[in-house]
Amino acid sequence: MEGHRHFFNRKLHSLLGVVPIGAFLFIHLLTNYYATRGEAAFETRVSFLEGLPFLSLIEIVFIFLPILYHGIYGLYIAFQAKNNVGNYGYFRNVMFMLQRVTGVITLIFIAWHVWETKIQLVMGTTQASGLFKAMNDILANPLMLTFYIIGLLCAIFHFANGLWSFGVSWGITVGPRAQRISTYVTIIIFILMSAMGLMALFAFAHPVDVAQAMQR
Ligand code: HEM
Repeated sequence: MEGHRHFFNRKLHSLLGVVPIGAFLFIHLLTNYYATRGEAAFETRVSFLEGLPFLSLIEIVFIFLPILYHGIYGLYIAFQAKNNVGNYGYFRNVMFMLQRVTGVITLIFIAWHVWETKIQLVMGTTQASGLFKAMNDILANPLMLTFYIIGLLCAIFHFANGLWSFGVSWGITVGPRAQRISTYVTIIIFILMSAMGLMALFAFAHPVDVAQAMQR
């Protein structure tokens, strides 16, 4: 019985990491990418999302609760990590360890980021129409910019490397060849999503430079 519950929790944790949390991460980065086209383009995108019906319900059911579950159960898994040295090579063991480390850093980053953005919106300290300016203020501080770069890269690494282990644990990538191809695919996903996320961060931090560069 205990074994069944543990199995179910692990499967749910794994699934939530991809859908909806991973899907949300991708959509979130795509929204932020509009910042590279300037403040107005980004604000238009945000007001479209803000206008969606049942937004708060969608956010609670498909974003907040899954991250809470995946994050808390993830901490439990991370701190009781059974290292599988005998089963995989050196590279995969490093990835296994990094999956846990980036999970913990991502949790700290998400908590801070949600406090600075969503909670301030709910409390009325920031308006949805002022989100670009708010991000610009935050990222003007080099320490915060560094923290955001680290948090962003950890979240994306965690997602991309998580896709690899998701493929193995759900029986999608079974043999060594499939797992090797999956390594390359997830590296490409990591690079593309990182580029998208970093471009958005720098567009928030230095809006004028980016807008000028895009015109050239
Ligand atoms: C941006 C937010 C996050 C995304 C997109 C995400 C995504 C994923 C994915 C796709 C997996 C692979 C599932 C599998 O191995 O089958 C995973 C695994 C994992 N996640 Fe997350 N995750 C996020 C946040 C977190 C947080 C905050 C923690 C807290 C520490 C965490 C801890 C873990 C752990 C420990 C694993 C490994 C599970 C295992 O090896 O069985 N994750 N995550």
